[in-house]
Amino acid sequence: MAVEMGFFFDFVLSLLVILFSIIFLLHKKLNDNSKKLPPGNMVLPWLGETPAFYKAQLKNRLFEDFIQPRIAKHGNVFKTMLMGSPTVVVSGVGANRFFLSNEFKLVVSAWPSTSVQLMGKESIMERTGERHRCIRGVITEVLGPSSLEHLVPKMCKTVEDHLKRHWQGQDRIILFQSAKMLTFSIVMECLLGIKVEPGMLDIFERVLEGVFKPLVDLPGTSFWRAKRARLEIVEMLLNVVRKKREEMENGLEEKEEGTLLTRLVKGLIRGEFSEVEVIDNMVLLVFASHDTTSFAIAMTCRMLAHHPNCYDLLLQEHVKIMESKNAGETLTLEDTKKMNYTWQVARESLRMFPPIFGSFRKAIVDIEYEGFTIPKGWKVLWTAYGTHYDKDYFPDPLSFNPSRFKEAMPPYAYMPFGGGPRMCAGYQLAKLNILIFLHFFVTRYDWSLIHPDETITMDPLPFPRHGMPIKISPKL
Ligand code: HEM
Repeated sequence: MAVEMGFFFDFVLSLLVILFSIIFLLHKKLNDNSKKLPPGNMVLPWLGETPAFYKAQLKNRLFEDFIQPRIAKHGNVFKTMLMGSPTVVVSGVGANRFFLSNEFKLVVSAWPSTSVQLMGKESIMERTGERHRCIRGVITEVLGPSSLEHLVPKMCKTVEDHLKRHWQGQDRIILFQSAKMLTFSIVMECLLGIKVEPGMLDIFERVLEGVFKPLVDLPGTSFWRAKRARLEIVEMLLNVVRKKREEMENGLEEKEEGTLLTRLVKGLIRGEFSEVEVIDNMVLLVFASHDTTSFAIAMTCRMLAHHPNCYDLLLQEHVKIMESKNAGETLTLEDTKKMNYTWQVARESLRMFPPIFGSFRKAIVDIEYEGFTIPKGWKVLWTAYGTHYDKDYFPDPLSFNPSRFKEAMPPYAYMPFGGGPRMCAGYQLAKLNILIFLHFFVTRYDWSLIHPDETITMDPLPFPRHGMPIKISPKL
C-alpha cells in the first residue's frame, strides 16, 4: 500500500512538473525578450483575459470595461490572450490605417473556425489576393451606379410588400426582428434574385446562431444544429444555381437587369468560379448583411425617438420627397440622393452604435509597429470604438449630433464599414436598405418605443435585449 501511495505521489508530482514547465515555456515564449512585445497581461495560458472580454461583451461594454482600462494602463497598443490566441489590441486612426491598409501584406482576416466552416471556406472572407479581388469585383459591380438605378424600385416593392404582410392590422411590432426579415428579403430577392420561400429565413438563422459558438460538434449543440442547417441551405442553393445555369446555357436570358446570382452563374459557366465558391459567397452575403443592417435600422429609430427635433427634420425631408411624387409613383435612386439629413442621422447612429465592434486580423509576418514587435501568427484586434468616441475627431462624442456629418470625416476615423481592401462590400445596399425603410416607416406610421431605454447586449454582435418593440398606428 505504501509503495502504491509513493508511486501515485511521484506520478502527480511529475505531472505538476510537466504542467509548470509548459506554462513557464509558454510564458517565456510569449514574453520573448529579444523582441519588444507590447505591454499587457498574458499570464494565464490559453484562457488569458477571455472571461473579462466575454463579460464586457455581454454587457455591450467591451470598449468601456475591457479596452479603455487597458489603454489607460498600457497605452494604445497592448497585448492580451483571448480564446487561446495571443492578441494585440490597437486603437486610433493611425492603427486603423496601418493594419487595414496592409491587409494581405502584413495581416489577413482571422475568423473563428466555426464561422469559416459555416460560411464556407471559399467565401470572400477567407480569400486573399487575386481570388479576393475577383469575388469582390463581382459584388461591387452588381452594386455599382447603373445597377442601383434598377435596385431602388425593387427594394421599394420589397419594403411595401413587407409592411403589407407583416405590419398591416398590427399595433405592436418587434422592430429588430422585422428589420431582419426585411433585410433577408432584400438580400435574397433584390440582390441575389432568389424568391424567399416560407421557412427559408429560419434555416439561415439556425446557421447564423452557430457562427460564433464553440466548435463542439455534438448532437444538441448550436454548432451541430448550424452545420445541419448549412447542409439544407447548400442543397437548396445548389438547386437554384443549377437551374439558373441550365436556363442561361439554353439561352433563356433574364429580361430583368442582372442579379448577383446571374453574374455569379455567368462566372461559373466561364470557369471563373466553382459551384462551391458561388454557394459559399451567397451564404456569406446573407450573414454579412443580416444582423448588421437590422441593428443599424433599430438604433437609428431609437435615436430618432430620443431626439424629436432630429425626427422632425428627417420627417420634413421625406414628406418633401413624397409630395414631389405622383400617386403610386415609386422612389428612384435620385430620390434617395435627396435623403441627406436621413443619412446623417443613420451615420451618427452607426458612429455611436457600430454593428461591428471591430474585427480580428492575423499577422502573416513579424510586424514592427510603434516600436513594438507583433510576432507572426499573433492576432490583431482593431475597433471602431477606438476612434468613434475620440473627441479630436468627434467633438462632444457622447452627444447625438447628425449635423457633424455635414463635414467630410478624416480617413480611418469613422469605421462602421471598416476600411482598406476589406471595407464593407455591401455598403451601398445597406445604405439604400436603411434609407428606403425609413422613408416608408416615417411617412406611413406614427410610432413610439415601448421600452425607450432598452438595454443593448452583444453575442457577439449587438442587439436590443427585447428586440425593440414599438407601438405603431398608420397615418391617416
Ligand atoms: C449597416 C450594415 C453593415 C455594416 C455596419 C457592415 C460592416 C462591415 C464591416 C465593418 C466590414 C469589414 C470587416 C473586417 O474588416 O473584417 C464588412 C465587410 C463586408 N460586408 Fe458589410 N456591413 C453592413 C452591411 C452589409 C451588406 C448589406 C452586405 C451585402 C449584402 C455586406 C457585405 C459585406 C462583405 C461581402 C464584406 C467582406 C468584404 C471583403 O472581405 O472584402 N455588408 N462589413
